[in-house]
Amino acid sequence: MADLSVKYLGLDLANPVIIGSSPLTSNIDNLVKCQKAGCGAVVLKSIFEEQIEERIEGEVAANEQYLAHSDSVEAYEAISRNYYINNYLELLRKAKKELSIPVIASVNCIDLASWVDYVAAFEDAGCDALELNYYPIASDSSTEGSDVDARLISFAKTVKSRAEVPVSIKIGYKYSSLANIISRLDRAGVDGIVLFNRFFRPDIDIEAIAIQGAANPLSSPDEYAESLRWTALMSAEVGCDICASTGIHDGESVIKLLLAGAASCQVCSAAIKDIGVVGSMLETLSSWMDRHGFASVADFRGRLAQEKVTDGGLWERTQYMKRLTGEEM
Ligand SMILES: Cc1cc2nc3c(=O)[nH]c(=O)nc-3n(C[C@H](O)[C@H](O)[C@H](O)COP(=O)(O)O)c2cc1C
Repeated sequence: MADLSVKYLGLDLANPVIIGSSPLTSNIDNLVKCQKAGCGAVVLKSIFEEQIEERIEGEVAANEQYLAHSDSVEAYEAISRNYYINNYLELLRKAKKELSIPVIASVNCIDLASWVDYVAAFEDAGCDALELNYYPIASDSSTEGSDVDARLISFAKTVKSRAEVPVSIKIGYKYSSLANIISRLDRAGVDGIVLFNRFFRPDIDIEAIAIQGAANPLSSPDEYAESLRWTALMSAEVGCDICASTGIHDGESVIKLLLAGAASCQVCSAAIKDIGVVGSMLETLSSWMDRHGFASVADFRGRLAQEKVTDGGLWERTQYMKRLTGEEM
């Protein structure tokens, strides 16, 4: 039988399928289910700086009558912040105790200064690696794109300089020069880049005339295309690992992303629908490897990366050259 093991962020994974940060990884019962389903690693649900700060603000407002002095407000804020962070550290400790697969902690932050001090606490709690989810919505029209990019790179450098464990960074694909961002993150020393995050999508309820979340927060199986393109374009150019994410719903897409050069694949929506998908992905991968005579993932990983093939320009094509009828455009 084929050997499905891979290295990701320097960690030994029994196979390349990772359960991505989601409700599936937010409590110990679900985490145990993920491991039983056969995944190679898990990324814990992110701890969200923004959410914590909002909750603290609400608590401070509710306790206003007891917090007469600004010193007491600050002390209250610090205690509340520690409470939420300790809950997360507790989940991390439990996960490390109950699971034998690697556990990656995930941090979603908007203000680096308040978070970088917690890196050591995550490490003490036993995380095998740290995944950073940093994606500011640049909705302030006076902010230059280059400033947004520079903050991301400086953020990656700072965390990398403080962390002992491997660090990956999960990004979206809406940058004017994604290749430049990926290369700069690689040069900043990150161990891995997750391509791509799929963000909350606001929508409008036209009857209530109100803003709401998209009716379906889960991805569909055809959404892996951008991850596939950018993994193929960048995997052979960077020294760090590329982890593919978004729209990976079956074993066939896992195989495609490995052929494009991904070191691993994160799965979230498909596993939320049915955690059994992990087992069927591994079966598909294993039987495909047997059929093609590949004894290990290293035997074929990256074969179709842009730099390895003569028709690599196809990965850069954005315009359809022919209509569906076959007629020239
Ligand atoms: C309900 C839900 C919650 C999520 N929470 C997080 C999170 O806390 N942190 C994070 O980095 N990504 C989060 N994600 C994004 C997923 O990890 C993943 O990047 C995205 O769903 C794309 O992968 P998929 O197509 O396999 O679902 C969440 C996704 C969903 C659907």
